[in-house]
Amino acid sequence: MYTTRFLDLPPLAAAAGTVRLPGSKSISNRVLLLAGLSEGITEVHALLDSDDTQVMLAALQQLGCVLERDGGVLRVTGLGGRLGVHDAQLFLGNAGTAMRPLAAALALLAATQGGDFRLSGVPRMHERPIGDLVDALRQLGCTIDYTGNDGYPPLRLRGTAGGRLSTAKAIRVRGDVSSQFLTALLLALPLVAKDSHIAIEVDGELISKPYVEITLNLLARFGIVVQREGWQRFTIPAGSTYRSPGRVHVEGDASSASYFVALGAIAAVDAPVRIEGVGTDSIQGDIRFIEAARAMGAEVSGGPGCLEVRRGTWPLRAITLDCNHIPDAAMTLAVMALFVQGTTRLTNIASWRVKETDRIAAMAAELRKLGATVDEGADFIAVTPPAQLTPAAIHTYDDHRVAMCFSLAAFAGVPVRILDPKCVAKTFPDYFEALFDLVRTPVEAIPVITVDGPTASGKGTLASAVAKALGYHFLDSGAVYRATALSAMRIGVAAGDEAALARIAATLPLHFVGGDAHLGDQNVADALRAEDVGAMASKVSAWPAVREALRQLQLSFRRLPGLVADGRDMGTVIFPGADLKVFLTASAATRAERRHKQLISKGISSNIATLRADLEARDERDRNRSVAPLKPAEDALLLDNSELTVEASMAQVLQAWEQRRPFA
Ligand code: DC
Repeated sequence: MYTTRFLDLPPLAAAAGTVRLPGSKSISNRVLLLAGLSEGITEVHALLDSDDTQVMLAALQQLGCVLERDGGVLRVTGLGGRLGVHDAQLFLGNAGTAMRPLAAALALLAATQGGDFRLSGVPRMHERPIGDLVDALRQLGCTIDYTGNDGYPPLRLRGTAGGRLSTAKAIRVRGDVSSQFLTALLLALPLVAKDSHIAIEVDGELISKPYVEITLNLLARFGIVVQREGWQRFTIPAGSTYRSPGRVHVEGDASSASYFVALGAIAAVDAPVRIEGVGTDSIQGDIRFIEAARAMGAEVSGGPGCLEVRRGTWPLRAITLDCNHIPDAAMTLAVMALFVQGTTRLTNIASWRVKETDRIAAMAAELRKLGATVDEGADFIAVTPPAQLTPAAIHTYDDHRVAMCFSLAAFAGVPVRILDPKCVAKTFPDYFEALFDLVRTPVEAIPVITVDGPTASGKGTLASAVAKALGYHFLDSGAVYRATALSAMRIGVAAGDEAALARIAATLPLHFVGGDAHLGDQNVADALRAEDVGAMASKVSAWPAVREALRQLQLSFRRLPGLVADGRDMGTVIFPGADLKVFLTASAATRAERRHKQLISKGISSNIATLRADLEARDERDRNRSVAPLKPAEDALLLDNSELTVEASMAQVLQAWEQRRPFA
């Protein structure tokens, strides 16, 4: 997962390959709640692991459910409808799929079994309406207080044991703000339908019906068959009890699939994008996104549990579509609209305004940054792309879907910056990794920053810090030479045997695991830092055949979203076209002192004068060798960090990088 402040996507070209989707958020949280309320144990397979499911899991655990993980399976021991814990404060983040149904279930349980529960979330959660659900629950006789603003969380739910609810009359609930109110009631009311049936009547036109269908489908799997008259009246039969089906498999998230369907429509030019985990048999309403994608020109085929998408009509076709049936996935259409000629109109999307953010306002603002003409109203958005997009830094409003759908704009030939990329953790923590896996971008388009300099100049520390700040890959090219040296020392190959050294280099089993160098399956991170290995590396690296043999290995680190490479010749030989080249120096005295401190911290004793003489000798050799001598690239930024902290050097490099970026 990218936890950086921003993630820059270079202009992207084609895409192909297979993505395995994480589990559906809607199914995961409903299944967790149902399993939590059921008698007995439910084995949940392929559960989504994300922020929204984490808060639901934490809440269930606080309420006394036992959760056991076993590989990819979660075993939930339910409460059997009986409260074990009667007093709890639950923090539910920004998860509407946790807040609404838990509010309903705990209000009913507190009212009948006694309890005092406080439900809160992040500030945005406290701006998302819940009044219609509270009103419906109050009709039954539940005691619910708003402890912040009326109509919004946080909530306090109270009751005394033995309390009775009035379930004889049908409960009325509004259906035109969020279908989650109805879903919450449907999921929770079986708790109090032992003796008599309970009816729910929906006021207003029910929106997002497919989500209610998921609710009904999952309730049926847990033994509760709701009778439905149109979309107006729902009846929970008397004697309903939650019965665990024993095992539930969570299908992949159909809303998450939309980004990859769109990716295929935009960029699967030579080979298809294959999506696994969700297919045409899905119970999720957002699967109908594929109809919209087809209408825009995508070629989509599919079967049970999988989809395959290719680019069809190009440019895509503008459409006008009532999106009430696919509210979440429809955001992806608004970005696909950048790839059409003409105006795409998405209507009947008023619910966007009460989601993670006001999504109509958010989409309009960010599409405009890219140069699109956007018309927005209370319940629609119309998007017309410009002839040429403008690179833009996309604000993501802590809304995972804004971040994910705007990543596709990078296929319109411009770099795109996604601010706060970690917001995708709500439903798809590894979204960007999954995207990069499928993207086929010419290597020259992948940004590179090089940091060269003499030994002990601090370039490794600086380069890895810069890589971390940008979310880029990191290459410590010194490790490549050190690993060759170490391998040679271990088998007794001499520093003068160029041919044998080159053979070692050509088949070096070097790879990195979490930043640590490994030779084969052995972690050699510490072994590589030894002084004798460094000295041998300096000699080994003077041989042209060795350098040539290690070239390809170094080039292979250039992968999306970008690379920061440090060494001696990164900017001059290996990546001469790098987007930013830094040449880092420090006085020999400073460098000797730094190395001395480094060695002491590792418990190795040393002498500053000897260290200084050593590193000057090594500089001399690195500078005067015939191939790839140590010298600054002509266009390098020269940075003497003798007097600078790592943070100060990093700030200078990041500032220089920012100046080369096209984002205002
Ligand atoms: O940066 P370092 O101390 O880990 O590098 C070890 C040796 O490898 C150094 O003496 C020179 C050599 N080297 C090189 O020739 N070219 C590079 N790009 C990186 C290191």
